[in-house]
Amino acid sequence: MHTPNVRGFFDPATATWTYVVWSTNNAVAQCAVIDSVLDYDIYSCTTKTTSADAVIDFIQEKRLSLQWILETHIHADHITAAHYLQQKLGGTIAISKHILAIVHTWEAYFQNSADTPQDGRQFDHLFEDDEEFTIADLPAKIMYTPGHTPADTSYIIGNAVFVGDAMFLPDVGSGRCDFPGGSAEDAYDSSRKLLALPGDYRMYVGHDYPPEGMRGPRCMATIDQQQQTNNRLSYSVDKHSFIARRNADDTGKPVPHLLLPSIQANLRAGQFGEAVNGVQFVKLPVNML
Ligand SMILES: [Fe+2]
Repeated sequence: MHTPNVRGFFDPATATWTYVVWSTNNAVAQCAVIDSVLDYDIYSCTTKTTSADAVIDFIQEKRLSLQWILETHIHADHITAAHYLQQKLGGTIAISKHILAIVHTWEAYFQNSADTPQDGRQFDHLFEDDEEFTIADLPAKIMYTPGHTPADTSYIIGNAVFVGDAMFLPDVGSGRCDFPGGSAEDAYDSSRKLLALPGDYRMYVGHDYPPEGMRGPRCMATIDQQQQTNNRLSYSVDKHSFIARRNADDTGKPVPHLLLPSIQANLRAGQFGEAVNGVQFVKLPVNML
């Protein structure tokens, strides 16, 4: 089985892990970036590319070319740097076909059909469920893992799986399921698909929220470790118990503070909306959430 090289980049501002994935075969120097971050300050409405530039520097130092820019889902807590990375390095921006439902859902909030194509053509490729592809010589496959949102997708790359917010590290558990179309029931079913992978596969998570004072941010646990010790989704937790705890914890939870800017930009693969006389805007719908 192929074991990919993986380098994680942690953004402390949003607790997001971005990954560069590439082959150990030096003859094929192509890579994928999964879930990148465009730094965004909500108060001044300004972006920075510090996080994305660190990824670019790494790719260039390794003399890799960027083949795929992958998103596990439409993030609600940070803006993707997918568009910026593509401008700098090329590559194909891809996400699950299920995001078309997310585009549709949020059109009601943002009234954004004029600058957010409803057919998903702002992404270069929309993956089918179980679609297979390659990153250089690494075999890769889609696994549809809804729950956190209705469109979450995991990427199985060699013997590693990148799960976004479908599961978190064992002492953190799992992502919230209260966004529009989210479902704790679906999240549990998705976790069972993920945990059915071979026990030695490495699971890389999309965020880490280390318990206060306990440890620094980490990004990976094996499937075995998740099966045995995930505090919400281990094999000892039944579906009913998971759903009850998840829904209780999500009830009344505040929305992520970057939710509105993030969703609307991420629905355009990380671009802000149509400019008016050269100025772009973030929309803040009033009394919609
Ligand atoms: Fe998320």
